[in-house]
Amino acid sequence: MSLNNIEEIATFIVADGKGILAADESNPTCGKRFDSIGVDSTEENRRDYREMLFRSKGMKGNIGGVILFDETIRQSAADGTSLRDVILGQSSLPGIKVDKGLQPVEGCPGETVTVGLDGLDGRLKEYASMGAKFTKWRAVINIGEGIPSDKCIDENMQALAEYAKCAQDNGMVPVVEPEVLMDGNHSIDECYEATDRSLKSLFVHLEKNGVNIKGTILKPNMVTSGKDCSEQAGVDEVAKRTLDCLMRNIPAELPGITFLSGGQPDVRATAHLDAMNKIGGFPWKLSFSYGRALQAPALRAWEGKPENISTAQDELSHRAEMNKLASLGEWEEKFEVR
Ligand code: G3H
Repeated sequence: MSLNNIEEIATFIVADGKGILAADESNPTCGKRFDSIGVDSTEENRRDYREMLFRSKGMKGNIGGVILFDETIRQSAADGTSLRDVILGQSSLPGIKVDKGLQPVEGCPGETVTVGLDGLDGRLKEYASMGAKFTKWRAVINIGEGIPSDKCIDENMQALAEYAKCAQDNGMVPVVEPEVLMDGNHSIDECYEATDRSLKSLFVHLEKNGVNIKGTILKPNMVTSGKDCSEQAGVDEVAKRTLDCLMRNIPAELPGITFLSGGQPDVRATAHLDAMNKIGGFPWKLSFSYGRALQAPALRAWEGKPENISTAQDELSHRAEMNKLASLGEWEEKFEVR
């Protein structure tokens, strides 16, 4: 793989229907996932789990990049190969989450701003020297009574833009993730409005900060009903409303949009992506950067037992293949029956 600049890296990650495997759960989040299968979240177990994912056959050809957590980019597989090299061996690129999590926004109850700009340049230099080719920063927007506020959106999108510029200055592609959460009983209209405001603000800030859009990947939420909303929008409506919102806000020169799954059931996340690609007519690659929606069946199958590794890898491979088909608009529900 010879990739000479950020534009080539961004294009590579989303080429030919490929997407991103988000495996950058912090240790506490990984702990929650492991609790669900009764496995202790030790450093070794986290390493074994991630090694199992990264060595799955279905990584090759379907996954263009893997987002790692700081601990993982420093780890080696049981045979001593660095996990970074395991990923490269699957013709996929290692990426790294670089934000430092959420803090309350002053004067805005119920809202958070993502922090991590302090010392960011130094951290990015180290990750670049370790072979990271792209980076991720996640901003979180909540929907509720009177929120999101303009202040919360503005502070988060400004931080995303500063991070993106710094990543590009260090030769890595920024994956900019403004996540409007699905938590709550809000309607799809309220999600549309919050997503529209966030994306509008994001691209104003990216432009102001001199970010090269051709060397950037956007990782947004889909426009959906809140998890607890009594009237859940169907697949076609989610696809149409999401595309409409993206078309209004995203410049054509952006190489790729890779959705987060945000807690959607895994097959539903695939169906939504496929429905959008079947509609088509947009200038960017529309693909996936799923965490739970790629990993959940593999995690359940694994149960922390070495004898389950091959079955668990088949589960990851299956979801990776299904999502690749969805990124090409070629998925069908019957492919899920095995
Ligand atoms: O930042 C969020 C993750 O990278 C994506 O995770 O697909 O489970 O929402 P998710």
